[in-house]
Amino acid sequence: MKVIFFSMHPYEEEFLGPILPSDWDVEMTPDFLDETTVEKAKGAQVVSLFVSDKADGPVLEALHSYGVGLLALRSAGYDHIDIETAKRLGIKVVNVPAYSPHAIADHTLAIMLALIRRLHRAHDKVRLGDFDLDGLMGFDLNGKVAGVIGLGKIGRLVATRLKAFGCKVLGYDPYIQPEIVENVDLDTLITQADIISIHCPLTRENFHMFNEETFKRMKPGAILVNTARGGLIDTKALLEALKSGKLGGAALDVYEYERGLFFKNHQKEGIKDPYLAQLLGLANVVLTGHQAFLTREAVKNIEETTVENILEWQKNPQAKLKNEI
Ligand code: NAI
Repeated sequence: MKVIFFSMHPYEEEFLGPILPSDWDVEMTPDFLDETTVEKAKGAQVVSLFVSDKADGPVLEALHSYGVGLLALRSAGYDHIDIETAKRLGIKVVNVPAYSPHAIADHTLAIMLALIRRLHRAHDKVRLGDFDLDGLMGFDLNGKVAGVIGLGKIGRLVATRLKAFGCKVLGYDPYIQPEIVENVDLDTLITQADIISIHCPLTRENFHMFNEETFKRMKPGAILVNTARGGLIDTKALLEALKSGKLGGAALDVYEYERGLFFKNHQKEGIKDPYLAQLLGLANVVLTGHQAFLTREAVKNIEETTVENILEWQKNPQAKLKNEI
């Protein structure tokens, strides 16, 4: 059985290499899967993808014509896959539903605190020998109102951490109302929170959940944290809200137009994306390149679950799989 891994990162090989079954014919490529690279999957029965890959209708049609039967995602999110088309074509899709929600929750707090305590600016200043504290004023988390959108595995862990910092935590989730937060409607959360952190999946319904109107309703000077998916925020509106001072700052691990841009080194050619260039130029923005998942524990789990998912399919391609979407 041939398995091709797209968007393969060197840090994954350390964990994946030793657990690959000897009877698999494995190909690994750092290339992103899209219409221009899909031919690489010819001859494979299984294609493994990361969040930087895109399996839309035309890509799935091509994979189907090559005889691919399984897409094994090395991620929890699957908004980059056209699930309906995959189902219609009979291509099964499996994900890694929970590899380490703690990794993402920790990173959420890390970028939130970096923004609130101006660590990104302090780091740059101190390295240049500038110990003047000008521009580094932060605020206490204790006593602030934090709003958590999406109260699944990650959102609940973030809520726990925020409570430990002394925040009053409001939560919004249309499907579950865990006791750990004060469950409110979305409008209450948006209008009352000093800090908002997003932890829901990106769907057709909540695309651009944060737009010009939402920013208008937020508390002046509030901060927005997004480690979920870039498409949940209208980037143009975010830039306006940041520049006008309506929004106090943004801490982001994901970006609406990150596909094809993140996970690669662009130092030589520079950042050509005009929105990203503007975001990076703002002092009240902390940005990491989709690295919230990147801990040893999480990557180990991702690789192990991916191999288990593929083995389960190999044993019985017709059966309903444990992590099938
Ligand atoms: P989960 O499935 O455990 O929880 C998601 C929660 O969001 C569910 O409780 C669901 O009811 C809720 N939800 C759905 N639609 C909503 C809406 N419109 N408004 C508010 N809540 C809504 O997922 P988990 O593991 O907590 O992950 C959350 C998201 O984090 C993922 O969908 C993914 O996009 C993102 N993620 C980001 C990573 C990174 O490296 N930056 C890594 C892993 C996940």
